[in-house]
Amino acid sequence: MAHEVRAVVAREKGAPVSVETIVVPDPGPGEALVAIEACGVCHTDLHYREGGINDEFPFFLGHEAAGRVEAVGDGVTGIEPGDFVILNWRAVCGQCRACSKGKPWYCFATHNAKQPMTLLDGTPLSPALGIGAFAEKTLVATGQCTKVDPAAPAAAAGLLGCGVMAGFGAAVNTGAVGRGDSVAVIGCGGVGMAAVAGAKLAGAAKVIAVDLDPRKLERAKSMGATHVIDGKAADVVEAVRELTGGHGADLVVDAVGRPETYKQAFYARDLAGTVVLVGVPTPETTVELPLLDVFGRGGALKSSWYGDCLPSRDFPALIDLYLSGRFDLDAFVTETIGLGDVEKAFEKMHHGDVLRSVVVL
Ligand SMILES: NC(=O)c1ccc[n+]([C@@H]2O[C@H](COP(=O)([O-])OP(=O)(O)OC[C@H]3O[C@@H](n4cnc5c(N)ncnc54)[C@H](O)[C@@H]3O)[C@@H](O)[C@H]2O)c1
Ligand SMILES: [Zn+2]
Ligand SMILES: [Zn+2]
Repeated sequence: MAHEVRAVVAREKGAPVSVETIVVPDPGPGEALVAIEACGVCHTDLHYREGGINDEFPFFLGHEAAGRVEAVGDGVTGIEPGDFVILNWRAVCGQCRACSKGKPWYCFATHNAKQPMTLLDGTPLSPALGIGAFAEKTLVATGQCTKVDPAAPAAAAGLLGCGVMAGFGAAVNTGAVGRGDSVAVIGCGGVGMAAVAGAKLAGAAKVIAVDLDPRKLERAKSMGATHVIDGKAADVVEAVRELTGGHGADLVVDAVGRPETYKQAFYARDLAGTVVLVGVPTPETTVELPLLDVFGRGGALKSSWYGDCLPSRDFPALIDLYLSGRFDLDAFVTETIGLGDVEKAFEKMHHGDVLRSVVVL
């Protein structure tokens, strides 16, 4: 039996998204049908609808979600109907060359549902990041479901499914923040703010938040930033150096992903320091750096996909930190909205009004 449900679809590049009825098949082997309870609006959804990721319209948006397993396909073990799960876009294969080397967070062959979800006329949808979760129900690979403590409310838990995990992991997993380190984070939306919180939890001595919006900087202070820099008013590189004894930070996280922020990150880090790029650049952007500086400054230039997380390891651990009051996921939820409000949420994101708008169902 297929399910007809309401879902948020981006039909063409740059056009407003619409709520449409889509068809979700019953789960086959290796698949699960999940009733979505909450799904955050991530900047990557906006990148999709702007054609910034690829041209495979129509997209079924939403990918930062938590919900209940409603049904599983034949032979599925490990999850069952009723389980509270966070959806992930890294269902590792266990067999590719990354998995074989014991580094499954780089898995090159992650699993998604095999059966397509479609519009009513049969047009297949491209689910954002292989999920699609601005909907009453969605179909995913079972490995995309990570069971966590159901005591966590869905609106908060779901955020670990993308942006918060990406930012937290960019600092803690990819950047490997150490006790006493200095860390600067450029761009404090949902992703960057989670990097700030992660750096604090990992024991960074200085956590410097950079944004163009004073409201984000105020919020960053309550999330663990020890210093803030208004990128509109100050020379970011100079300001970070001033705050770090003239040297630059041990780790700079670029949670924007533009050439100007990447250059700031590159020069605001100390010699032998690390840059982690977690913001997603658009296809037309390039960055030019003197190769001698790339060589001479040493250290590491890294990218972070999904915070190099392993959902089965990291989601339950972060939910435990949340439930014990040490990681305030609720602070990321600026507002809860309905399925029909995603376009408005993009507007608010664009104007910097929100950390996360979360669709609740
Ligand atoms: N790598 C990953 O796995 C991953 C996962 C999720 C999101 N992302 C990406 O991370 C980026 C941030 O996502 P988000 O949801 O936090 O977005 P957001 O729009 O909520 O936040 C972006 C923030 O950057 C600030 N900003 C913009 N330009 C700036 C500049 N020049 N200097 C300083 N601050 C600036 C904005 O004021 C805003 O606070 C996006 O590119 C998104 O696609 C990456
Ligand atoms: Zn793999
Ligand atoms: Zn995302």
